[in-house]
Amino acid sequence: MKRFMYSAFVAFLSSAAMIVVLARLVPGPRAPAPDAGRTIALEELARHATAQDCWMAIEGGVYDVTDYAPSHPAPPRVLLDWCGREATAAFGDKGAGRPHIPESRELLETFRVGTLR
Ligand code: HEM
Repeated sequence: MKRFMYSAFVAFLSSAAMIVVLARLVPGPRAPAPDAGRTIALEELARHATAQDCWMAIEGGVYDVTDYAPSHPAPPRVLLDWCGREATAAFGDKGAGRPHIPESRELLETFRVGTLR
């Protein structure tokens, strides 16, 4: 009986360790992915130019900010005017000569879908 209990305990520990290892291998739903996606041309970027489907290119990356746009703190047009476009300068100075805070850049990275061709 003691031997059985010992085996069961070892089996339980192995399973728990396996679950921890597998959980680390599976990425989260919004894990930052610096190499995410593929190469995207300006023509394809331009096809995602609405509030319901909003991509923008910033510093060589392409980002799908559709889900984020409603929570952006500025009035909607400030962000939506850049859907489908190369928006490095606009993101860089918020259209007002002031940069986004570093956390905004980190947040942006979580929406990456590819690299601008
Ligand atoms: C590309 C065009 C964009 C423009 C012109 C722009 C402009 C602005 C402006 C004017 C503010 C200040 C709002 C306020 O304090 O009332 C702001 C804040 C913010 N924006 Fe943007 N934004 C752009 C894109 C983005 C994107 C793509 C993200 C993230 C995915 C983002 C994330 C934020 C965050 C987190 C803040 C609050 C913190 C901060 O000021 O950095 N923005 N933005």
